[in-house]
Amino acid sequence: MRPSLFLVGSLAATAASAACSTGGAIKCPVVLSGQVPASMQLTDFDTAATNKVFNAGNVKASGVPWSQILRFPNVTTNSRFDNASTKSVEVTIADGSVFKTQYGFRRAGLQMLGDANTGGPGAVGVRTVHWSVQQDPARTLNLTHEYQNMWHETADYSANQFDFKMGTLLDRASDKNAMKITNRKGEVVWSTPIEATAWQNFAVTLDFDKNTLQVYYSKGLDALKQVTAALPNDNSGEGQYQIGMLKKPTGTDDVVNSGYQESGIDEGQIYGGIFIEDSAGGCISL
Ligand SMILES: *[C@@H]1O[C@H](CO)[C@@H](O)[C@H](O)[C@H]1NC(C)=O
Ligand SMILES: *[C@@H]1O[C@H](CO)[C@@H](O)[C@H](O)[C@H]1NC(C)=O
Ligand SMILES: *[C@@H]1O[C@H](CO)[C@@H](O)[C@H](O)[C@H]1NC(C)=O
Repeated sequence: MRPSLFLVGSLAATAASAACSTGGAIKCPVVLSGQVPASMQLTDFDTAATNKVFNAGNVKASGVPWSQILRFPNVTTNSRFDNASTKSVEVTIADGSVFKTQYGFRRAGLQMLGDANTGGPGAVGVRTVHWSVQQDPARTLNLTHEYQNMWHETADYSANQFDFKMGTLLDRASDKNAMKITNRKGEVVWSTPIEATAWQNFAVTLDFDKNTLQVYYSKGLDALKQVTAALPNDNSGEGQYQIGMLKKPTGTDDVVNSGYQESGIDEGQIYGGIFIEDSAGGCISL
């Protein structure tokens, strides 16, 4: 009995690791990476000495360490651009997720190490930002609110060149159950339903010379497909990428500072395969 049980166990282990490494290869030079090494521990995110992936200090409530904000979710497969040496990470928000004095928001967001507000490698030439998301059934969003989950914000914090949003948009009619990519004017350029369990993979190419934005998407482990043309968009103003959870309040015109947030929240978004590649000459990993 024992040898055969052992055999079944090791076959199962082999199958599991094979399932985790099915995905896409990154084809173009990576200029910024938010891919989390498989060996990384939650407490490694807390200090700059051990967090070689993200900014250890921002953007989050100053008194709450990343090790209490981030989780390693129990996903059954890694996202398309992760492999056996990288893993997914979940960003969560709770009642105490207040950055500085922004009492209207509940937010926690990752910034890739090496990204810079001015002069950084993420906002020049042609860049494609990649990310995958999956929902946590134990930490669902309240889609009565507007969420910003990934965006590029100008260096003077006056605008976002693009946003990836969920829930009820505050400034226009929208399908609250959809994931939406919005342009600098806040117009929805593409949307797709939020999947309860599947990975959803996005890529947005920002051409900082031609001022265009183009969206790519796929589900599960499928290859990305172009879902918009290269649309005109004002990409000026440099700035940084923000990845995570920003939940806006309801019932206010001053979303940063005031408004309603229910108490007792425990919500999250699972991320994988975060990186920015150089898409000069039309290079893109699909
Ligand atoms: C994943 O599973 C482990 C073991 O059951 C558990 O300790 C951990 O809290 C789970 N992670 C999440 C994010 O739920
Ligand atoms: C896994 O992904 C990382 C990050 O993209 C990459 O550096 C590494 O070469 C990949 N490993 C394999 C075996 O493909
Ligand atoms: C969702 O948010 C709205 C507005 O803040 C609130 O009234 C409602 O109770 C929330 N729903 C749940 C299920 O928490």
